[in-house]
Amino acid sequence: MIQYSNIDFPAAVITATAKITSAFHRRGYTKPAAYFVILLLSYYLGYLSAVPKNPSDVRQQHYSATTTVNPPPQAAVDHYQFQTQCATPLPSHLVRQTILTRIFNGTSPYHGFPQPHIKPLLRQKRIKGWGSTGAVFKNLINKVRPTTVIEIGTFLGASAIHMAELTRQLGLDTQILCIDDFRGWPGLPNQFRDIKMINGDTMLLYQFIQNVVQVNATEAILFLPFSTGSTLDRLCEWGVLADLIEVDAGHDFHSAWSDINRAYKLLRPGGVIFGHDYFTVADNRGVRRAVNMFARVNGLRVKADGQHWVLGSL
Ligand SMILES: C[S@@+](CC[C@H](N)C(=O)[O-])C[C@H]1O[C@@H](n2cnc3c(N)ncnc32)[C@H](O)[C@@H]1O
Repeated sequence: MIQYSNIDFPAAVITATAKITSAFHRRGYTKPAAYFVILLLSYYLGYLSAVPKNPSDVRQQHYSATTTVNPPPQAAVDHYQFQTQCATPLPSHLVRQTILTRIFNGTSPYHGFPQPHIKPLLRQKRIKGWGSTGAVFKNLINKVRPTTVIEIGTFLGASAIHMAELTRQLGLDTQILCIDDFRGWPGLPNQFRDIKMINGDTMLLYQFIQNVVQVNATEAILFLPFSTGSTLDRLCEWGVLADLIEVDAGHDFHSAWSDINRAYKLLRPGGVIFGHDYFTVADNRGVRRAVNMFARVNGLRVKADGQHWVLGSL
């Protein structure tokens, strides 16, 4: 008997079909009966070709072709583990001085800006953001009236400057802490040719400072020029908490997931966390997936405000 599962399927069908047809001819059967048998044989051969020769081959194919492999239980637990307990919250009037002391040796990072070798590389004001003046900022600032804001992902300061203006209009004495490594992303200099680069060092940080100086917001805005993960963990250790936290740094799932988890621990009671790109193409399902998962795990509700997401209680 022919081992159909070991030979090329179309060749098997053609060979067997030819043999059966001629056998029917020799025995004088009518055409419909012959066609019926051929149909049955084709169906059977199709089934054989779909049956795994070795079940482990199929398991391998399945695992390499999909991303829905269940992780081992321990790994699943690890993904939910972030720092649990932050230090006793600092009173908001001590926040600025604490950052200056802990990060900048007690000196204002605006002092002596711009250094002579940097000045010619900067534009007087160069602001660009994404959804940086959306209604969500005004809505939340009016509602929360924050004394401390943490912005995760600042770029050229468009949204931070907008928040500084909104809090000033309300007569609030708000400190806005901007966390950004000011490196942007690979390929940034090709997209923003007017932001200069020296020896691979983009002038993003300096242009951001220049923008803040230009709008007279150096008292309201302080920057923390490091990676989001390490900075949020330090703020937690130092008890630097906020009433309003905006998340708008890395947009892939893992960055957003990590930023949201770390940031949420820094919320003062009654505070609100929100972020950009819940509804934009830049999301690429990373941000939305992270936000939805965080809400599900923590029993929160995701509210949409324009392109932004806002987390609230159920
Ligand atoms: C979309 S931009 C922020 C835009 C800003 N919120 C606005 O609307 O004006 C994202 C910023 O996140 C920063 N960023 C991304 N991943 C980061 C990380 N892991 N640590 C620090 N900064 C990061 C980039 O340098 C970039 O400036």
